[in-house]
Amino acid sequence: MPASSAVWSPRLRFLHWALFIIIAAAVTCVLIASGYERGDPLKGQFMFFHKSFGVTALALMIVWVITRLNTGRPPPIGQAWQSRLATTVHWAMVVLVLALPTAGLLMSQFAQQSVSVFGLFSIPVWLAEDKVAAKAIHTIHAGYAGPILIGLVALHFIGALWHHFIDHDETLKRMLPGKTRQP
Ligand code: HEM
Ligand code: HEM
Repeated sequence: MPASSAVWSPRLRFLHWALFIIIAAAVTCVLIASGYERGDPLKGQFMFFHKSFGVTALALMIVWVITRLNTGRPPPIGQAWQSRLATTVHWAMVVLVLALPTAGLLMSQFAQQSVSVFGLFSIPVWLAEDKVAAKAIHTIHAGYAGPILIGLVALHFIGALWHHFIDHDETLKRMLPGKTRQP
């Protein structure tokens, strides 16, 4: 691990907000899809976008992890308990954003469904059919891991607002575009 950099690198800030937009899009699409009956073509359309954004999130998160391990991060601001909680939430979100799409792809493999990514390319089926495994992964993905990620993002969001509006510190401002120097 390199020594912590003084500020968030522009690349890490870009990746952070790109990930936020892509993950928000994936979650929005699946929540809309859940409002349609099975077999409705619109459900299929929204699931197509859910899977496409999900695979994109996996690729971006891999790039984020490599970039983050190479560039480090600026020192946390605030009390020790805040940064301990924040670090736990951050790495739990990273693990979930890697695990959720991987589980989604495995679910599709066991259900014998290829996954088209925005119609640009398709991930073919390599594994044999396994309905029991597909169902178990569906329960973990949709019933536990997805909702836990949404809860952690909400906690992370409250933390960012807490720093900004209650502690009046630079935590949120230095993650926004444009800021290149420490206060
Ligand atoms: C960061 C990426 C992802 C996130 C945050 C995510 C999140 C979620 C959530 C929250 C649900 C439950 C929605 C509900 O309550 O109805 C869900 C369902 C599902 N996801 Fe994902 N997912 C991701 C990636 C993927 C990928 C890559 C695939 C497949 C290639 C996939 C396939 C599915 C399927 C098949 C369902 C079940 C939908 C249903 O029951 O009708 N997901 N996902
Ligand atoms: C899907 C949504 C999000 C994910 C997965 C995510 C993930 C992360 C991760 C992993 C870090 C830690 C970076 C590191 O240690 O190198 C981080 C930092 C940060 N995020 Fe997010 N984030 C999301 C949404 C948001 C939102 C909505 C906000 C604010 C409105 C936000 C504000 C921040 C800030 C201010 C930091 C810097 C914290 C610090 O200096 O210690 N994030 N985010």
